[in-house]
Amino acid sequence: MELRGFLERLAREAGEMAMDYRSQLASLAVDFKTERDLVTEADTAIESFLVESILAEYPDHAIKGEETGEVAGSSVRWIIDPIDGTAAFVHNQPFFSISIAVEKKGKLALGAVCAPALGELYLAERGKGAFCNGRRLQASKTDRLDQAMMATGFACLRAGLEKNNLPIFTALVPQLRDVRRYGSAAIDLCYVAAGRLEGFWELNLNIYDVAAGFLMVQEAGGTYSDFSGGKENLYDEILASNGLLHPDLLAFFKKMK
Ligand code: IPD
Ligand code: CA
Ligand code: CA
Repeated sequence: MELRGFLERLAREAGEMAMDYRSQLASLAVDFKTERDLVTEADTAIESFLVESILAEYPDHAIKGEETGEVAGSSVRWIIDPIDGTAAFVHNQPFFSISIAVEKKGKLALGAVCAPALGELYLAERGKGAFCNGRRLQASKTDRLDQAMMATGFACLRAGLEKNNLPIFTALVPQLRDVRRYGSAAIDLCYVAAGRLEGFWELNLNIYDVAAGFLMVQEAGGTYSDFSGGKENLYDEILASNGLLHPDLLAFFKKMK
């Protein structure tokens, strides 16, 4: 099976698994990686399903999964977040997703974000566009911050970091039309790609939260960087936008430094 078709099938099946677990939330086993960082039996079961399915089809591929870590392999690497938005999932809210990216020789080649409770499957392939349920995505054309809606998150607070998002949130939000905190960075990025958000920013994420979403944004005409406009400080600093607003947002972050 060709890689894109296999990825799409895998994302759909993982989405169905998540919905099965969601129907049994009352009996769902929930554990804690840290005081506020949850992991459930759904997270671990879906990641196990994904890892086993990938290695059965492509035994030489490498894998980086949020819950199980690294599997060594070739220059094709799968990057997995089995449930992005576990807190939303546990609270029976719809903003959770399965995020799967495929890197080839260190470059993002394919991405899938399945948001099963929203009935949406996002797919992107480098150079071939980004799609939601087969409909091509285009980032928004908004070029003014006061007409922009952005999303963010607070992993930094969950991790108890001193350098956190609150001063940024307090300074940036009054300049925007509005802000959202949906609870899944992968969905936030897909919404930028879909033109439903003009941008997303967060501190202290991991590659598995954002890899598929980054490709979605890029293939929809948007852009992503750290707060200085490069990629050196990515994951500590994440800024994605429709592209048109990136210069204004970088100017804002420069003033915040
Ligand atoms: C979390 C979600 C959330 C973001 C957190 C992430 P998880 O992923 O993406 O939106 O704010 O930083 O950790 O932990 O539910 O996989
Ligand atoms: Ca995540
Ligand atoms: Ca996760």
